[in-house]
Amino acid sequence: MAEKWTPENWRSKPIVQVPTYPDLAKVEEVEERLRNSPPLVFAGEARNLKKELAKVCEGEAFLLQGGDCAESFAEFHPDAIRDTFRVLLQMAVVLTYGSSQPVVKVGRIAGQFAKPRSSDVEEIDGVTLPSYRGDIINGIDFTEEARIPNPERQLQAYSQAASTLNLIRAFASGGYADLDYVHKWTLGFVSDSPETARYEEMANRITEAMNFMKACGVNSSTTPQLAATSFYTSHEALLLGYEQALTRIDSTTGDWYDTSAHMLWIGDRTRQFDHAHIDFLSGVKNPIGMKCGPSMDPDDLLRIIDKLNPENEAGRLTLIARFGAGNVEKHLPKLIRAVEREGHKVVWSCDPMHGNTIKASTGYKTRPVDRVLAEVQEFMGVHSAEGTHAGGVHFEMTGKNVTECIGGTHPVTEGDLSSRYHTHCDPRLNANQALDLAFLISEGLKKERDTSSDRMTALA
Ligand code: PEP
Ligand code: CO
Repeated sequence: MAEKWTPENWRSKPIVQVPTYPDLAKVEEVEERLRNSPPLVFAGEARNLKKELAKVCEGEAFLLQGGDCAESFAEFHPDAIRDTFRVLLQMAVVLTYGSSQPVVKVGRIAGQFAKPRSSDVEEIDGVTLPSYRGDIINGIDFTEEARIPNPERQLQAYSQAASTLNLIRAFASGGYADLDYVHKWTLGFVSDSPETARYEEMANRITEAMNFMKACGVNSSTTPQLAATSFYTSHEALLLGYEQALTRIDSTTGDWYDTSAHMLWIGDRTRQFDHAHIDFLSGVKNPIGMKCGPSMDPDDLLRIIDKLNPENEAGRLTLIARFGAGNVEKHLPKLIRAVEREGHKVVWSCDPMHGNTIKASTGYKTRPVDRVLAEVQEFMGVHSAEGTHAGGVHFEMTGKNVTECIGGTHPVTEGDLSSRYHTHCDPRLNANQALDLAFLISEGLKKERDTSSDRMTALA
């Protein structure tokens, strides 16, 4: 018989990417405080997200997941939360038009603090120190003191996540997310864009659709759904002590939920079948994601799916492909075919960020926007060829005007990188680049729809 899962099960499994805390008594004290703190989300909300993702799984909705690579204590500011939220809503409206489907909105926000690293140490000018692992673990400054893992940081992360979520909930239901406002902001972006002519047609079609709805009496006073939106939170479930402390039994179902976010995902470096991270997420009922990079093998994927989603529940598991532009055709079809052959219900999403990181000649880590778009296009092309649903996209972005990724229609050049490079980890798309991508992906989705409806007409 399978062993009975408990939230601390993972502690007896092999684990990678964990900090070495010097003071274990302090860690226990912090976890005890977190165990006694209120949950950040309610299990019923996680179930609603799962239902929305089940629609994506069935090809009837599209997933937009985005936000910071790493949230930081230093960048914590209401304006930053507002701007990221606003750009995600704008992207969602543009994608709704392109896909003609509802867009499920999930932020990498309100808890995205822990980072896996390719090396345990960082060396600068002959000095070697432990790597920065995200603000929930240690500090980014290159000093011995900052790099010592400090459990107290978990309390600050929890409190920042709680205030961020509080503001997001207020924006989502208090009128800020009104479709009219969101579209007006997008019209402002379009008129300031060097690509005005290209984007205008789509923006005008959205305006027309909204005017038509208004003429039919559908507006935010008659239809309150237009003034509010559903928005969910997510992060990588990496620091398992923190996640365990926020894992609670839902009194309405008796099931375990990780209440630190609606959705949690497993990173590409921590998805070993018999290790701690897979074990932990196999037992909580939230919708979960898993990154699939070039080293993911189809048989391994099937074993992991059986473990993470034994009941084959639609909406439970999102596979986030991140192969890099030029590599999608090599890796994705064999994974899709294995999943299809076994009849597994999954959402396929595309993270076009993590396989496209390069080092600029100036030393900055960056990502070319055209590579990001190319990977999304390859992802869509493969799904179209396989007859499966390209279910969503997963971006690292911010609503601020940073200069971290190169390219875009308001181009950021290699020389600009030093001007506003604020990320605590990987380079993020800025607001303009994120909206550029939403328009370009939406164009692609619309073309895809038009071709398939032509195909249907030809068959009829
Ligand atoms: C991330 O999403 O920030 C990340 C580290 O991704 P991956 O696990 O795919 O490398
Ligand atoms: Co990242």
